[in-house]
Amino acid sequence: MLKTRPPRLLFVARSCRWYATRPIHVDILGERHPTDEITNITPSILAKLPLRLHTRPKHPLHTLRTLIESHFPTFKHHSSLSPLVSPFKNFDELSFPKDHPGRAVTDSYYVNKDLMLRTHTSAHEVEVFRQGDDRWLLTADVYRRDEIDGSHYPVFHQMEGACIFPATPEGMRHVAEDNARMRSQLAKTNIVIEDVPHVAPTNPAQAGHDPAHSALVAEHLKLSLNGMLLALFGGATPLQVRWIEAYFPFTSPSFEVEVFYRGKWLEILGSGVVRQATLDTANVPDKIGWAFGLGLERIAMILYSIPDIRLFWSEDERFLSQFKENEITTFKPYSKYPSCFKDVSFWLPQGSALHDNDFCDLVRDVAGDIVEDVKKIDSFVHPKTNRASLCYRINYRSMDRSLSNEEANEMQAQVVSRLTELGVEIR
Ligand code: PHE
Repeated sequence: MLKTRPPRLLFVARSCRWYATRPIHVDILGERHPTDEITNITPSILAKLPLRLHTRPKHPLHTLRTLIESHFPTFKHHSSLSPLVSPFKNFDELSFPKDHPGRAVTDSYYVNKDLMLRTHTSAHEVEVFRQGDDRWLLTADVYRRDEIDGSHYPVFHQMEGACIFPATPEGMRHVAEDNARMRSQLAKTNIVIEDVPHVAPTNPAQAGHDPAHSALVAEHLKLSLNGMLLALFGGATPLQVRWIEAYFPFTSPSFEVEVFYRGKWLEILGSGVVRQATLDTANVPDKIGWAFGLGLERIAMILYSIPDIRLFWSEDERFLSQFKENEITTFKPYSKYPSCFKDVSFWLPQGSALHDNDFCDLVRDVAGDIVEDVKKIDSFVHPKTNRASLCYRINYRSMDRSLSNEEANEMQAQVVSRLTELGVEIR
């Protein structure tokens, strides 16, 4: 980052502008990009872009990715697409409505109005289909602004999978044969599938699809993924899987899948029959098929018993040395160091608001992975002055060492000073 502009208006109603002084441009992965008034990408997020944990041998995210890939041996694998995409590609091309909340600057990271960090791997569907790949898996880092706790992190990894077929009688015959083969294989296993037949008028076959073709493709999706879930979660006891009606702008019908594991139903993935508009845009209008997307951290936390999502980013040998290539092992926590809570209360300028995600990004920028969680513990508006008061509790805890109270105080002082730069009045 080079030159900065002079300080500018800091708060506008309902959203906090990130930078007290906004850089004129940002350098990302070797290229320079201009900023504008919606720029909200932070240095701590930029630092994550080159890390690509899913490509590091032995890392749990890499092993999980490899296990899933080996379950789909005929699929092409992609894992090196740039995280920078246009909002058009992330949203519009996938039929997201103009007012979809995911587009908000409070929910997504923007370099400028024409460039953002992908919020999901589906952002690459059109380009991969356009290359002519009929069966593919794509693994990548994705970015979403979020609150801070043990299972949310603004960068995580997703895997997208898709399979399309010629929408012809032979194509469909092939799908039906494949379905029969997978069905008979699954019948020999101890998987228990709950799948209420879909009758919801909100989750229909698409208008342009032959309902029989759509049903065959949806069945191919379910059978393919049930086999994969069995490979990941299956064991001596029967594996319970349930398929639930869902909604995504770029699939219909759409489904979510949950797995019953160690006493809980866990949401594993989103999926559905690909919207024909996506395939038309990708220049394969005569195909029909399915896609799914899953979060790798979520699944790895369960399979490896990793208790905190920050651990995936640890460079500590006590973490990294535990893992083997291509083998899921149970994580042995090396220590739990004491945490240190600090509260900060402040008045916002009159008529302004601060989004929790803005506060969390500020804290992450100061404390990085030392922050374990952040909670808003109080908020009210003064009846006379109409100013809003907020109080947040920040829990500082290192995963690798004991944190001294002085260090926590030092970070807290930086949080306070950054808040002051933004124009709030500390209470
Ligand atoms: N992209 C969706 C998400 O991030 C998941 C998904 C992928 C759903 C493919 C349907 C098809 O939640």
